[in-house]
Amino acid sequence: MRDTPAGDFDYEANGSGYAVRRQPDPRIAAFLHAALGDARTVINVGAGAGSYEPEDRHVVAVEPSATMRAQRPHHLAPALDATAERLPFDEDSFDAAMATITIHQWNDLDAGLRELRRVTRGPIAILTFDGDALQRFWLNEYVPEVIATERVRFPAIDHVVGVLGGAVEVLDVPIPIDCTDGFGEAYYARPEAFLAEDVRAAQSGWVLTDPAAVARGVAHLADDLASGAWDERHGHLRTQPEHIGAVRLVVARQYVGPEPCGGQ
Ligand SMILES: C[S@@+](CC[C@H](N)C(=O)[O-])C[C@H]1O[C@@H](n2cnc3c(N)ncnc32)[C@H](O)[C@@H]1O
Repeated sequence: MRDTPAGDFDYEANGSGYAVRRQPDPRIAAFLHAALGDARTVINVGAGAGSYEPEDRHVVAVEPSATMRAQRPHHLAPALDATAERLPFDEDSFDAAMATITIHQWNDLDAGLRELRRVTRGPIAILTFDGDALQRFWLNEYVPEVIATERVRFPAIDHVVGVLGGAVEVLDVPIPIDCTDGFGEAYYARPEAFLAEDVRAAQSGWVLTDPAAVARGVAHLADDLASGAWDERHGHLRTQPEHIGAVRLVVARQYVGPEPCGGQ
């Protein structure tokens, strides 16, 4: 176990229930796997408990938290203890790279992105959130403090694109109404979920926010659900099959040209 976390959230202390609530969603996985093209070897950085790892390719997982590594299911290979900022691999070691819901936690984002480029020959697929788009989520009416916490954590998409360099595509990822990966917007149609402490505990933004603000916001939401006020404003979402929110897939294609952003 690490004495100090490798990112901005302490998964050794707070990560034990992660794999239960954060099941990869198969529809989001299909988006991501398509972006990996025909890669045979893939590095998964900030792999956590193995969510979204393709099972039909050779995957090397990198994950700095022992608590998260311990939650990897037995059918996946064990993860290596390392960080994005210093990947222990040679140049061009992998056909493709992936990083899902992790780049906002890295201590040195740019160094991590350059490392992804260095060790990868082909596409790099990064699943992340657009902080500006997240502000439009209805939860902002109840706990603006949580959204504000998240907003500053998520790097600007343009910045990620610029550091990766070369041809980069940014795709909106639709969130299905019954999304199995319990990040915040996954519950856009299931507002009652936020009343459950274990749902909130699996979303780092809540854990990093002042508990008094969280208690206030949750009580406000509970009142609005009981009175019907939430349904008056947002009830149409309960049957909306999918939602375009803040989830983005950034796909950098094979880089041909000078060393991106000056390299290491
Ligand atoms: C929200 S979890 C996501 C895990 C997994 N990729 C998923 O989609 O469920 C973020 C992960 O990033 C890892 N992480 C934090 N800082 C990191 C760093 N500097 N390098 C690599 N991984 C890091 C954490 O330990 C944690 O497992």
